[in-house]
Amino acid sequence: GVDSIQRITPSELKRHNKKDDVWSAFNGKVYNITWYLPYHPGGEKELLRVAGRDGTKLFSSTHGWVNADYMLDECLVGFLVPEP
Ligand code: HEM
Repeated sequence: GVDSIQRITPSELKRHNKKDDVWSAFNGKVYNITWYLPYHPGGEKELLRVAGRDGTKLFSSTHGWVNADYMLDECLVGFLVPEP
């Protein structure tokens, strides 16, 4: 819930780049997308391209019509912030 929402830097985001622990950022929000990998209609491999990094550009270039914000609401980990 809202109480546990974190501020996440790009270097922290980068730590979650393994298949069993995948975080990615879209539009300033960081999501834990691990569970979603097998369900992605575009396949796991495509999704893993954004593991541990900001996937906003790649996401909007492949399917700007998909509402990630809505789909991934339950997977929200926190907000992407600059390195201190
Ligand atoms: C298809 C969701 C990330 C590449 C789809 C579709 C959804 C979806 C709902 C079906 C769209 C449709 O049929 O209209 C998501 C979500 C993502 C994500 C929630 C983030 C967690 C990505 C990324 C890439 C990607 C980062 C590219 C690196 C694709 C491709 C398809 C697709 C190529 C088309 C598959 C096909 O129709 O053959 N995705 N996607 N997706 N996605 Fe993603």
